[in-house]
Amino acid sequence: MSMPYENILSERNDGITTITINRPNKLNALNKATINELNQAFKVADKDKHTKVIIITGSGEKAFVAGADISEFAHFDVKEGGKLAAKGQELLFDYIENLSTPVIAAVNGFALGGGLELAMACHFRIASDNAKMGLPETSLGVIPGYGGTQRLPQLVGKGRAMEMVMTAGMIDAETAKAYGLVNHVTTQDELIALCEKIAGKIMRNSTVAIKGAIKAINANYKDGVDGYKEEIKQFGKCFGTDDFTEGTTAFLEKRKAEFPGT
Ligand code: COA
Repeated sequence: MSMPYENILSERNDGITTITINRPNKLNALNKATINELNQAFKVADKDKHTKVIIITGSGEKAFVAGADISEFAHFDVKEGGKLAAKGQELLFDYIENLSTPVIAAVNGFALGGGLELAMACHFRIASDNAKMGLPETSLGVIPGYGGTQRLPQLVGKGRAMEMVMTAGMIDAETAKAYGLVNHVTTQDELIALCEKIAGKIMRNSTVAIKGAIKAINANYKDGVDGYKEEIKQFGKCFGTDDFTEGTTAFLEKRKAEFPGT
């Protein structure tokens, strides 16, 4: 299955939808049209019952995403700047984070500014060894506006986030792994295969349980929300699902579970 888009590609194979940002000669920078198409592609993949995991990556050998498209916002005023951030977070960054389908970022090169913010909005990240990550916004006279000031400290700790944002510098893949920003580092050739291998492990498990787990884990990072309460709620809900009946029955019958996904 393949959808027609201008700035991205979306393709499903064996339960995995791979979304590729496809503006390699602009290092896959996120302009408005690309953000809208990504929103559409994530919506379609999340609704598609055959998609169990989504992988997002960048086309070409150089970049995952080199940031928001600077040429598009360079002339914005205060109001337009605020709107740019709000709209982007609504359509893409918060949208991905709260999706019920697991999303893996395959960071295949530069992930800068909005590009790193996009990777951080995904449920977890795997990088190739050529990847370089950073939030260079302060070198442009702005701050990260797609959730970077919130998600980077959550992932790497406040001090490292402060240094990365203040220096506007880049870190390499190994440093990103040591910081906990990416879970694994591999070669560029092996990157998608490793993401697919991990996706394969995810797909064996209950999609309904995973959906509840995403909600409960995310609740830990939402102001005014008690994550423990959300966990209790999601835990209880599992007991009413066919997946729970199948998972526990299969265990007791010493066979592999075949989850219906309901
Ligand atoms: N927005 C718009 N265009 C971008 C872009 C961005 N964030 N990042 C790269 N591009 C464009 C370049 O303008 C260039 O276009 P051109 O060929 O029409 O001139 C093309 O992508 C290739 O980039 P180039 O800078 O020539 O590649 P490089 O290998 O010399 O440098 C980077 C790579 C990533 C270091 C450099 O592109 C860069 O610093 N990009 C901006 C990163 C940034 O600040 N992002 C945060 C935005 S909030």
